[in-house]
Parts: sequence; structure tokens; C-alpha cells
Amino acid sequence: WLRQPVPEGLRRPPGPRGYPVLGNVLELRKDAHLALTRLSRRYGDVMEVRIGTRPVLVLSGLDTIRQALVKQGDDFMGRPDLYSFRFVADGQSLGFSPDSGEVWKARRKLAQSALKSFSAAPSPTSSCSCLLEEHVSKEAEYLVTKFLQLMEEEKRFEPYRYLVASVANVICAMCFGKRYEHEDQELLKLVNSTEEFTDVTAAGNPADFIPLLRYLPSRSMKLFIDFNRYLLSFLQRRVKEHYETYDENNIRDITDSLIEQCLDEKLGTNTAAQLPKEKIVNLVNDLFGAGFDTITTGLSWSLMYLVTNPSIQKKIQEELDRTIGRERRPRLSDRGMLPYTEAFILEMFRHSSFLPFTIPHSTTKDTVLNGYFIPKDRCVFINQWQVNHDEKLWKDPETFNPERFLSADGTKVNKEDGEKVLVFGLGRRRCIGENIARGQVFLFLVTLLQQLEFSVCEGGRVDMTPLYGLSLKHKRCEHFQVRQRFLMKGRS
Ligand code: HEM
Repeated sequence: WLRQPVPEGLRRPPGPRGYPVLGNVLELRKDAHLALTRLSRRYGDVMEVRIGTRPVLVLSGLDTIRQALVKQGDDFMGRPDLYSFRFVADGQSLGFSPDSGEVWKARRKLAQSALKSFSAAPSPTSSCSCLLEEHVSKEAEYLVTKFLQLMEEEKRFEPYRYLVASVANVICAMCFGKRYEHEDQELLKLVNSTEEFTDVTAAGNPADFIPLLRYLPSRSMKLFIDFNRYLLSFLQRRVKEHYETYDENNIRDITDSLIEQCLDEKLGTNTAAQLPKEKIVNLVNDLFGAGFDTITTGLSWSLMYLVTNPSIQKKIQEELDRTIGRERRPRLSDRGMLPYTEAFILEMFRHSSFLPFTIPHSTTKDTVLNGYFIPKDRCVFINQWQVNHDEKLWKDPETFNPERFLSADGTKVNKEDGEKVLVFGLGRRRCIGENIARGQVFLFLVTLLQQLEFSVCEGGRVDMTPLYGLSLKHKRCEHFQVRQRFLMKGRS
């Protein structure tokens, strides 16, 4: 690594010296978000650390991050070519591959539009306002039944494995028009081993920065490669089925609509026409891959906060009883009328910050940020956790308190405060599933909480210690219980 000279009048970002060869890798292997938050207090919002011999720029502070990702968006929109990312979707991933040029742009647009078509479109077969509402309502109702059944049979249960199957079914319905039974082994194997993915893609994974480590045997790397292979073959089977039964007069789901894009010869002027076919259809890999683990993790943290804060759960249920009542099921359009519930969800995102960093970025050209010189191709970590726990933005950031987002009379969510919570990234690379994700977390939660009260059985321990990875998980908790609040019409 040769240090590039810094142009006159500019400075190199400050940072800790680190050990020879290893750099700061030892400090970052575990809970990198906490270590980098501590270091940022000393070195500032624009800081440089070394992982192995490779320099990494670490950005903290909402203003600095907005400056980089929004105001200087083009300079910071790249993705680094990291070793582990080459195994994601066979190196063709929209979100993880190093491409950030015209091909990425066209693919991102196609993915956004396919996602919108199969979530916001009206539901042809139900009274739901849109397809997303139909899928989520159905899966959430199923969960209510499942949790009650588990209580009858076992008296306690572990919710994550049921949540993940339900959330995966929503994205499966959108992508493949298909739902799986909760006992389906093909789906369960996939959705219950995402830790194998999030472990290796965690920011600061040494094998991404120290090439020598790639040649040493690593159990987590092997599991990661196997996971990606299994996911890819699962998805390829679904795509093959779709090609075999494709009918241009009946576009059933996202996969069909992507197939339509690459078969449509009239699209001569569309940039999509210049994309290789596979690069269109395999967008479904990103949508499916990004579409269930994140949302499940958010819902699972929500349940953990609810059982450890029963008075907060009660307030949400009072709000639901007051606004929706007990006669009808919740809808996506109820969101604006449930400020306390909205505030709870924002506080869950903020306090857990379960995506502590975005996916790493890289600079697309030499640039300057806050007076510091940043060369092209610099790997950049965006510390979302730091923003969400910054004492300059939040009073008592470690306290879980939904009310911090509410107006004094409790009737409105303060929009500006809500926008300070950083979980979906910002700018050119901002998450394309944000609307769907917010809608799903809301509708799953309110459907469950309208009918069920969650608790942990006596003596059952709840461990909220976050386990570091691309997403922060908690240890699974076997001690959940539910109580039916009332008998919903149409439920036996
Ligand atoms: C990227 C968060 C759900 C699709 C991202 C990024 C974050 C994020 C932090 C990286 C932003 C960056 O690098 O600056 C979340 C959270 C979710 C969620 C917290 C749920 C609570 C979803 C869903 C989908 C999705 C449901 C699609 C169905 C994507 C895609 C990218 C992405 C395709 C890559 C975008 C690109 O690199 O251009 N998401 N996401 N996400 N997300 Fe999400």
C-alpha cells in the first residue's frame, strides 16, 4: 500500500495508528460499531482506520454522512471489491457487487419498478387495499393462529423461527407467487441459517482485508459459501419453473415481470435492453435475499422490547383498541392514525440499530470531505449505530423511550426526529425496499398486538445483548408466551 500524496491545502483524515501489518483489525473483529463509535469521539466524523494494510474511511455524524451520501452522492456511491462479496449471488448482486455504473443504475431502476408493481398494485382477489397488505395480513393471521396453537401444545415457544417463515412467505408471494408451509424443509433450511451470511458480511471481516487469511481454513467462510450456493440454487429452480410456465398475457409476479423485461423486443430504447438477460432475471436474488432477514430481525427485536417493557406494549394496545377497535383487522392505511405505535417502531429502529453499518461504500473518484482529501476507490464504512446513539442528537440515547418521537400532547410523531434515525442508508444507495419494510413491520406488529399479549414465562431469561454481524441479532429466546386478548370475528 503506497500512500498517495495529499494535494496542497488538504489534510489526510486522522485516525488511530494501529499495529504494523494488522492495523486496527483486532479492535474491530467484534462489535466494530462500538469500537468505531468510541474512536470517532477522539478522531472526529471523518476518520481513517487500517484493517490489515488497507485504509478504511469511517464516517460518523448525521451531517457528515448527509454531506457525503447526499450532497456528494456521486463521489461516495461505489462499492468496494471485497473478497466475501464475490460469493453473493455469484458476484452479480445489485447491492454487493462493485458495479456502480450505468448497468447498476438500470438494474436498480428495474428492481424498484418490479417491487412497486407487486406490492402497491390493487389486490384482485381480496378487499385489501394492495397486494402487500393482502400478503402481510394473511401471514400475520397465520402467525396468530400458530402462536395460540403453540401455547396450547407447549405452553411456551421461540418466535423467531415462525416469524422468519412468515416474512419469507411475503417476499416469496411477491417474487414467485408461492407460499410455503412453516414446516417446509426447503424453505426452513434457507431462512434459519442467515447468520451464516451476516457473520461473514459484517463490516470489518478480516478476510476481506487481509488476503493471506483466504488461504487458511475457516468454518464461517465455508458455511457462508455453502449458504450462498444453496440460496442461488433455490432461486434458480424458481426462475426455471417460471420460464417453463411463462405466459405474456398473465404476468403473475416479480419473476414473470423481469422475464417480460428481457423478452420484450420493443424495449429497444430502454437501457434494460442493453443488459444481458441474466442480469435482469437475477435481480430477484437481491430482492428475495434482502427481503426477509432484515424485516424478521426488526420484528424480532420489536417482540423483545415489548416483553421487556410491558407498559409500552399496553400503551400500543390501548391505542389500537381506541383507533381500530376489535371488530375489524388493521390495514396499512391505519399507520398515520397510530402515533404511539409509529413512535415505538422508530425507537426500535433507533435503539437496536440492527444494521449498524450500511453495506460498505467506496469512492468513485478523488474527493474532499470536510477539508480532508479522500482518494478514489477508498473503502468507506457508514456508522449508522453512531448516528442513532449520538448524544448530540438524542437525550439519554441508551434509554428505550418511544415518547421521544412524540409531540408534547402525544398526538403526533415529530417527522424531523423520525428522519434522524438512520437504518436504510441515504442517497444513491439508499435501500429500495424501505417503504415495503416499514409497511410490513407496521402491519405484522399491529395485527399481532391487536389480538395477542406477549410475555415471557416466569423465570425465563431475555438476553438483549446484540450479536455482531451485518445485522445485529439477539440470542433466540425460548420462553415466549401469548395470551389471546379477545376472540376476533371469523376466528374459531
Ligand atoms: C440496501 C436496510 C429491507 C432491498 C440496503 C442498505 C440498508 C438497508 C442499510 C444499504 C444502504 C447503503 O449501502 O447505503 C434495510 C432495512 C430493511 C430492509 C433496515 C428492513 C427493515 C429491504 C427489503 C428489500 C431491500 C424488504 C427488498 C425487497 C435492498 C436492496 C439494496 C438494499 C436491493 C441494495 C441497494 C443498492 O446497493 O443499490 N437496505 N433494508 N431491503 N436493500 Fe434494504
